[in-house]
Amino acid sequence: MTTKELDEKYIAHTYARFPVEIIRGEGSLVWDEEGREYIDMGTGIAVNTFGHRDAAWVAAVREQMDRFQHTSNLYYTGPGARLAQAMCLATGMEKVFFANSGAEANECAIKAARKWAGTRKGPEYYNIITLKNSFHGRTLATLAATGQDAFHSQFTPMPEGFLYADPADPDSLRTLAASHNCAAILFEAVQGEGGVLPLPGAFVKAMEETAREYDLLLMADEVQIGNGRSGALYGYMNLGLAPDVVTTAKGLGGGLPIGACMLGRRAADVFTYGDHGSTFGANPIVCAGALSIFSRLTEDILSGVRTRSRLIFDRLTGAPGIRAVTGMGLMIGVETDRPAAEVVAACREQGVLVLTAKSKVRLLPALNIPMDLLEKALAVIRAACI
Ligand SMILES: Cc1ncc(COP(=O)(O)O)c(C=O)c1O
Repeated sequence: MTTKELDEKYIAHTYARFPVEIIRGEGSLVWDEEGREYIDMGTGIAVNTFGHRDAAWVAAVREQMDRFQHTSNLYYTGPGARLAQAMCLATGMEKVFFANSGAEANECAIKAARKWAGTRKGPEYYNIITLKNSFHGRTLATLAATGQDAFHSQFTPMPEGFLYADPADPDSLRTLAASHNCAAILFEAVQGEGGVLPLPGAFVKAMEETAREYDLLLMADEVQIGNGRSGALYGYMNLGLAPDVVTTAKGLGGGLPIGACMLGRRAADVFTYGDHGSTFGANPIVCAGALSIFSRLTEDILSGVRTRSRLIFDRLTGAPGIRAVTGMGLMIGVETDRPAAEVVAACREQGVLVLTAKSKVRLLPALNIPMDLLEKALAVIRAACI
């Protein structure tokens, strides 16, 4: 049987796959089973930060594999401790809990907020305000946090304790905070799955004010936009915010599964032994690779992200068949005249892999995609939009 036949027969039908089997990757290029070459403008949905087979990441992972692979969290291990140190020093956060995915990082943030508010204000202060059109994951609590009914309908009852503010209406945030007992606000600097929509400035200001006024934790979901993709180390840094909790995943691991929940000063000591855990969390191989990625997110790389971002906006904004270009850094949404799925298919036929986000075409290239490949991909995308 072919891979496609095996997949159809044995893998649960939760993914509508593109008709391509990837068998090799190198930097920002991948090849399919027929030897066709593609420019990868999706990076496994914002995961392969420095592309495929990034030499330093491969070396860091290999080196750790040759030492030992896993111990459980019953023992001290170096890679996770060093990664947590690097993340705290770079962000000013104080503690890190490591998990294996974005959803789990957000689960940790939700638990942290409930315990923090419960201890400080009382157990009835459990509500977390998230945003309409947000996306926070597929576990039940993070689905409930996700402000999109379409994700909830067949999986009810949803865990309670989530309220949804409208990013277009900053007053909706204040109204919710005033009328419910709340613990925290959870937000994405750019709503990724929601259509690559940066948060409006008025809402950002309202979040800061409301969190202060109602004594709420401000929690940034940096699962998709984080780790250099925004042109800053984390997307909230572009908004001038100082969140109390930051969750991240995807690009931090560079291709191996990781999630991290960073706790700032106000929440640093919220957890005690036994409050939370994960068998694979802080896996040494994953963390050794992640440290290699994280420690290379230098100002040089970030300024390269901003340069590439400007190029994308410049080449696509106002081009025929393109209605709007939205996003931040190298997380970009393109609103097209043609249905996004048609543009994605046309790009693929011309050797460029792009994604969708709601009705938009979504671009999430590697932070170091070579400029000539980026130009080539943008020319293909422009032609596919007509
Ligand atoms: C903002 C955001 N939060 C959480 C998640 C869930 O991450 P994971 O699929 O690693 O659980 C995603 C995934 O796309 C995301 O974009």
